[in-house]
Amino acid sequence: MDGRNGGPGGAALVNEDVAHNARVWNYWLGGKDYYAVDRQVGDHVVGVYPAIREVARADRAFLGRAVRYLVREAGIRQFLDIGTGLPTAENTHEVAQRIAPESRVVYVDNDPVVLAHARALLVGSPEGATDYVDADAHDPEAILRAAEGTLDFTRPVAIMLLGILNFVSETDRARAIVRRLLEAVPSGSHLAVTHPTLELGGEANAEAMRFWNEHATPPITARSRAEFASFFAGTELLEPGIVSCAHWRHATEGNGAGEPPEVAQFGAVGRKP
Ligand SMILES: C[S@@+](CC[C@H](N)C(=O)[O-])C[C@H]1O[C@@H](n2cnc3c(N)ncnc32)[C@H](O)[C@@H]1O
Repeated sequence: MDGRNGGPGGAALVNEDVAHNARVWNYWLGGKDYYAVDRQVGDHVVGVYPAIREVARADRAFLGRAVRYLVREAGIRQFLDIGTGLPTAENTHEVAQRIAPESRVVYVDNDPVVLAHARALLVGSPEGATDYVDADAHDPEAILRAAEGTLDFTRPVAIMLLGILNFVSETDRARAIVRRLLEAVPSGSHLAVTHPTLELGGEANAEAMRFWNEHATPPITARSRAEFASFFAGTELLEPGIVSCAHWRHATEGNGAGEPPEVAQFGAVGRKP
């Protein structure tokens, strides 16, 4: 174990010999829950593609802006956040419940280290609800069944799929998962997605993904703008549409005129009419 607090520990069925996405993502974000192998693979990727840390930070910043928009402007009070990641600063329930304490959030992940931490750390406000489901994104039926104890599917829900559809290797399967989730929620619900792309980031990004797929798990698939757009079928894309997630509503939130550097991760939010 290698994290600054001695590694994640405590979780069953953890393979400490293979780098795993949730832990490497936590390492790139400056967290402390990772093993030596995660640091080694994470450092190699940074060596090949230094912008990867910025991708992780921009993705989390997108999460904050998207949740603030959804709560303040779209009136959303329920979130289904699939591919939660290890708890870090500004998790979905913290952002939402700070504005609307009655917000209800269901987190879903299939990583045993995330499971070990999430139940302890993702504790919400007394007025709202925060639940954690151990499930695979490939199985939307199981996710919906598990979430219905906490979320009311007759009222709008925001489905959050940030950095997770890239771990569903077939695009048709990824589309079917999103379609099934959207079917289960009523008009006024929203879909927020971030996803890596090789259309931004150049050859270094492609090299980093090749390295990841040879040395770490689960394997990652990048997608084109057109493939990313297809996940939003049946929704109305909100302004500014599909952009690098670093740019989504960045200026709108009063961050000044200057845009931050583009990162190789698309971000968008759609509304189910
Ligand atoms: C790149 S992290 C993103 C975390 C967070 N959504 C964010 O944007 O910061 C991806 C997360 O998806 C989880 N994950 C990967 N494949 C999954 C699957 N098939 N089912 C559920 N979770 C999965 C990983 O364990 C990891 O926590």
